[in-house]
Amino acid sequence: MIRPTVRLTLLSGLALALAGALPAAAQEASTAEQTIDVMNTLWGRHPGLRANHAKGVVVEGSFTPTKEAAAISKASLFAGPAVPVTARFSDATGLPFIEDGAAKANPHGMSLKFKLADGGEMDVVVNALKYFPVATGEEFRDLLKAVAQSGPDAAKPTPVERFVAAHPAAGTAGATAKTPSSLGRQIYNGVNAFVFVDKEGRRQPFRYRFVPEAGEDLLAADAAARQERDYLMQEIAARVSKEPVRFKVLAQLAEAGDPIDDATKPWPDTRRTVDLGTLALTKAVPDSREAEKALLFMPNALTDGIEVSNDPLIDARVQAYAVSFGRRQQ
Ligand code: HEM
Repeated sequence: MIRPTVRLTLLSGLALALAGALPAAAQEASTAEQTIDVMNTLWGRHPGLRANHAKGVVVEGSFTPTKEAAAISKASLFAGPAVPVTARFSDATGLPFIEDGAAKANPHGMSLKFKLADGGEMDVVVNALKYFPVATGEEFRDLLKAVAQSGPDAAKPTPVERFVAAHPAAGTAGATAKTPSSLGRQIYNGVNAFVFVDKEGRRQPFRYRFVPEAGEDLLAADAAARQERDYLMQEIAARVSKEPVRFKVLAQLAEAGDPIDDATKPWPDTRRTVDLGTLALTKAVPDSREAEKALLFMPNALTDGIEVSNDPLIDARVQAYAVSFGRRQQ
């Protein structure tokens, strides 16, 4: 028979051994969970809504590819005729009632779900920033934490001032996205690099760029602040119902030596761009609130012929979007 003290020692030994075998993520919250926690601290937790880009509107349309697209990637998206697309435009932050014209509603986002001819789906999630404030998921969590700790009573230099001093792009990226007169008159950027693979297996890193055919039209800060609370969401729904809202879908191609794994570093404007096709948004959905609940756009939901690059931000986003989606289902 085992004496009680020995049994206790055996049990605690087993507990210690088990703890050692557990992955780190099981012992403490993952970076993605910590990121969503800070977002919930900054903007509140709103049942059923996204932790970030909470306010949005869903519309529908189609994408028609060019021949150039089919030459650079074997993706079925580029091989055939037009495919249906579901799009969601959004304001930044997890604030569901944010004023569309508020400075912190920038960068506005555009998320796309392409319904492929083979029955599959592919997602593209872009925003109006020209480059991202940080290069990794851990840095993004730390930036949000620093913002949360930099209230009016924070000692100088505040945590966010210290963060920006150590991460220069965090101080400049925000200013690259301005408030538009319409969500259909803003340029949206992929920010992260993805990789085209053609029929011969050749690989070409690229970044998406969506350019409105009507031209970009940005408002001065004071004009933006004077707009009605929901002017962007209402305007885009009305605009697509009246006339197609078209975007040229471009891919900016990396040259040898361009940083593929760092979203804080835009490539020179002189890099070649390929015209991939036209996105035409033509219909508002009857109940956008219901439609957006069921939608999850994932930066790594791709199709054969388009792959993720080694940009670490892509996986950080995938993890965070999954945590946010899980919480909005609760
Ligand atoms: C580490 C970096 C990032 C983190 C942690 C992050 C986090 C999030 C989270 C949690 C959501 C809500 C997802 C959901 O509930 O479905 C979201 C939505 C979104 N994010 Fe990010 N994000 C990051 C980077 C980016 C970048 C680089 C872009 C664009 C280039 C972007 C564009 C968007 C857009 C457009 C949405 C709205 C998605 C929708 O319409 O459903 N994000 N983000």
